[in-house]
Amino acid sequence: MNTIQIEALVKQMTRLEKIGQMTQITTSFFNVDGAKATGTASRMKDVEQHKWIVGSVLGKLDAASMLRIQRDYLQHNRLGIPLLFMTDVVHGYKTIFPVPLALSCSWNPEVLRRTARVSALEAAAAGFQVTFSPMVDLVRDPRWGRVMESFGEDRLLLGQFGAAMVEGYQTDDLQQPDTLAACVKHFAGYGAAEGGKDYNTVDLSPLSLYNDYLPAYHAALQAGARLMMAAFNTLNGVPATANTWLLQDILRKQWGFDGTVISDWGAVKELIPHGVAAGSEDAARLSLQAGIEIEMMTTAYIEALPELCEQHPELEQKLDEAVTHILQLKQELGLFDDPYRGVSEAREQEMLLHPSHRQAAREAAVQSMVLLKNQNVLPLNPDHKLALIGPFADNQHILGPWSVDGDPNHTVTVLEGLNQQGVHVQSLSTDDTRIDEDALHQAIELIRQSDIVVLALGEREEWSGEAGSRASIGLPPDQLKLLRIAAAAGKPVIVVMFAGRPIELAEVAHHADAILMAWFPGTEGGHAIADILTGRSNPSGRLTMSFPYHSGQIPVHYNHLNTGRPAHLLTQEKRYKTQYLDVPNESLYPFGYGLGYSEFVYGDIDADTGELSIDRPLQVSIPITNNGDYTGCETVQVYIHDRVAEIARPVRELIAYRQIELKPGETARVEYTISAEMLGYYHTDLQYRADPGEFELIIGPDSHRGASVMIRIV
Ligand code: BGC
Repeated sequence: MNTIQIEALVKQMTRLEKIGQMTQITTSFFNVDGAKATGTASRMKDVEQHKWIVGSVLGKLDAASMLRIQRDYLQHNRLGIPLLFMTDVVHGYKTIFPVPLALSCSWNPEVLRRTARVSALEAAAAGFQVTFSPMVDLVRDPRWGRVMESFGEDRLLLGQFGAAMVEGYQTDDLQQPDTLAACVKHFAGYGAAEGGKDYNTVDLSPLSLYNDYLPAYHAALQAGARLMMAAFNTLNGVPATANTWLLQDILRKQWGFDGTVISDWGAVKELIPHGVAAGSEDAARLSLQAGIEIEMMTTAYIEALPELCEQHPELEQKLDEAVTHILQLKQELGLFDDPYRGVSEAREQEMLLHPSHRQAAREAAVQSMVLLKNQNVLPLNPDHKLALIGPFADNQHILGPWSVDGDPNHTVTVLEGLNQQGVHVQSLSTDDTRIDEDALHQAIELIRQSDIVVLALGEREEWSGEAGSRASIGLPPDQLKLLRIAAAAGKPVIVVMFAGRPIELAEVAHHADAILMAWFPGTEGGHAIADILTGRSNPSGRLTMSFPYHSGQIPVHYNHLNTGRPAHLLTQEKRYKTQYLDVPNESLYPFGYGLGYSEFVYGDIDADTGELSIDRPLQVSIPITNNGDYTGCETVQVYIHDRVAEIARPVRELIAYRQIELKPGETARVEYTISAEMLGYYHTDLQYRADPGEFELIIGPDSHRGASVMIRIV
């Protein structure tokens, strides 16, 4: 089907058929077991009569149900327009990868691309055609449960990793039946919810939006993503769902997006509690005018648009535009040629949890984990007797939120991982919030019989994810009690930490000899943890979100602005500065930080003349040596500080990074090309450009350390 045929098809459609295409319901309406037939679905009974004209479904599926639903649907749909199947494949379909925040700690777009590719292979085999991923919301508040879905606090990494996932899902040929169309979300600013409370108000200045929040959505679209999801939140007073500035001026006019725009779940009718719509009719009109083309899981469009378009014929054009985009998407996915997209139960069976997918999940998990502390206790000494204790010692619930079709029964626990590598372990599983005296006594006894202790601690899966906001982000008191007891026993203590967000770790860091941040590592988690603990793999993950000492410091992102009274300024004055009286200013573990078993030494930066111009970039290089005993991977990070600009600029901002693998004793020179473009920013006129002048260029292993040189744009 080509553009002309799509136009002809739109002309044949009745108004109700068009509105049907613009409505999305769950697969539960087509009797798929376990599909999200929650309260919302039960309130949508009226839609039952329209189900043969709705354009798309979301939710649970498998190959057999997809084949059945599509066949029935095509028998009922007057024009034979195939149904589109969408879902949230966020970090894997059946083979679950680490949560996105963890994946971002690999600092490796290849890892993101590969995980997305595997996810597409599995989900497409189960009948899906669109995934609501990647999420590229910039996050600075770890109290917000959905930080686990993001790639952290840096706009450059967010954009690059979002783009890599889009490429992995879609490849360069969406017609191939093993691809998924990517839906970028949540447009825009959803990650800046006030107080870290989900769905909450977002207020961002134009400068902050342009410089920090918008670039990642744009980068993911430039990688070819075919859909965009509007956010739940208000942005500067106007809900994103009804935000013409976002959905028209920025998305369509400035960025030239020609794909499909979908609302978030129920968000069209949520315009009513937001207080900008009196009822369904207002909600439908505002959303349609702003540019929402698919209404997910409410029925304002079906209820109100037939009548509204009768009264306001000019709205008909909006329907035509929306339906054209939706049909184009179906065409791009090859659905008009093969509505079943080659789905078969045999292919599904072959694809799901394929050994090569599990291997990819193990490698991704190894690359995602961040070693935060290590006082000569890791890797483990194979002769030592190990006590493995805690709520996550032998726990399969480590897939993490949004592992929609993941099955904990397929998940490798820490205990299994260690056992399979022949480590001598005695283990004790405890509760996560109530570790009673009896359990503590058993723990003490186990520790007494061992040489070294591994505590598997952390937060439950459902404590992060959607609606998983927490006001304080420490460990439950009983887990800290267990840690203190273990530390008091005098044996070395290693903490393996499971969580979907940065955790307050000051006390853990005080007691533990080593801390490995395992996040929610997915199906192969236990194997990956064992790989790192035993030294079979050398940890190389680096944080993409700062870890605060204390929740009260939030936000504590690395790329903050200087004030007129920065705490580090050397004056006689002790008090009148930007600082807390009771906790440090800096994070406990900064953005970019992470240890390994190698020891990398940074030489002097060579920045040639130190001068660049708009058309002449600067070559910069630095020698790095591995002085340790293990082959290892170092992420060499380049930051910039614009000393005098039109607006206050971040104290540091990441502009480039390179990963190099070095053998013991090996040295390599890491080179970068620094262009004026990389040093630019949006000015008060909202135009992007770089200013002539001096910049501090810092190269180091994280956002707090490194050597610097001055460079200049002439
Ligand atoms: C979430 C979206 C998700 C959608 C569909 C919403 O609650 O905010 O991220 O894609 O549900 O499951």
